[in-house]
Amino acid sequence: MAEDNIEKMIRSHLVRVDTYDAMDAPETLAGESGIALENIIKLNGNENPYGGSPLAVKAVSEVPLHIYPDPHQASMRKSLSQYTGMGEENIVVGAGADELIDLIFRLFISPGDIILDCEPTFGMYSFCAGLAGAEVHYVQRDSEFQISPASIKSAITDSTKLIFITSPNNPTGNVALEQDIVEILKTGLIVVVDEAYFEFAKTSVQDLVNTHENLIVLRTMSKWAGLAGLRVGYGIMSPTIARYMMEIKPPYNVNVAAEAALIASLQDSNYLLGNVEKIIDERERMFHLLSEVKGITPWPSDGNYLLCEFGEKEAVRVFKELASKGIFVRNFKSERLENFFRIAVGKPEETDLLIDALEQIM
Ligand SMILES: Cc1ncc(COP(=O)(O)O)c(C=O)c1O
Repeated sequence: MAEDNIEKMIRSHLVRVDTYDAMDAPETLAGESGIALENIIKLNGNENPYGGSPLAVKAVSEVPLHIYPDPHQASMRKSLSQYTGMGEENIVVGAGADELIDLIFRLFISPGDIILDCEPTFGMYSFCAGLAGAEVHYVQRDSEFQISPASIKSAITDSTKLIFITSPNNPTGNVALEQDIVEILKTGLIVVVDEAYFEFAKTSVQDLVNTHENLIVLRTMSKWAGLAGLRVGYGIMSPTIARYMMEIKPPYNVNVAAEAALIASLQDSNYLLGNVEKIIDERERMFHLLSEVKGITPWPSDGNYLLCEFGEKEAVRVFKELASKGIFVRNFKSERLENFFRIAVGKPEETDLLIDALEQIM
């Protein structure tokens, strides 16, 4: 069958979808740069340079692979309830926070509905909006990348259904003020506060879930717990939304390895939070070192990454030169971030190599 016949059968809004700009695998980066895999410095995914907990690695190796996971997520919800202090009935686990974002669209969005995205921010919300046939209205953050409740409120129309707020924001690194989130919750629309980097920022609005039925807080095990490759995250929300989300999710959405790793990681949270402290210390050291390189302005961050600002047209050149030396950072398509890129915090030796390379390039 010819390709245009297939196209006619694909849902019209998906024929030319604006796809998610995902990172290439380390092997691909090595192949493209001609640099050996073991010499690649991968600082483009906000991944945890210390990996997962040894207890999680052991748990994954021991899990029976031939049995389906628990569709009710009972053990994971219990462990997460102890870790977060929220009720088990408030928690839903997903194959990464990414799956929960998709489930939120499935639950609340019909084609033609509108979501509000506070730009610049994480690209997954607008990507999922495209898949759901929703329209994205972009509300620009201010010059310090803070959200403005007044601008958000004035962007609301009768078709607006969801408002996404990332805190700390990816890629800008700043936390949203709780009073601003409370103000936005008063609109009564569903407000998603994505706290993927909560453990690095140590500030959360999760308690507001008890008083605001329209709030969903997202978290992930990818960053602080080093489980990005296993894909596991969770949401904290009212028991009503959680019940609906449990009903519509794929029954076995979180695989048994991810389930075992999540539970073992939470048992080993002191070890993992120790690694978080190392990353925070390294972030501050890297911020200081980057500030001393001529032509680079790092922005302060509460995440495990730093957004760096460059002079006109410099970001692309520096990005490419770093890549040719096997150092990969994250650049952006958005116009507002054309003079920026984001660097994940790695191990101290990676920071040192990065700074050496930047000093040569600049
Ligand atoms: C703000 C934000 N939310 C969600 C995610 C996705 O998390 P997960 O790996 O759990 O899908 C990321 C990953 O980079 C992120 O930066």
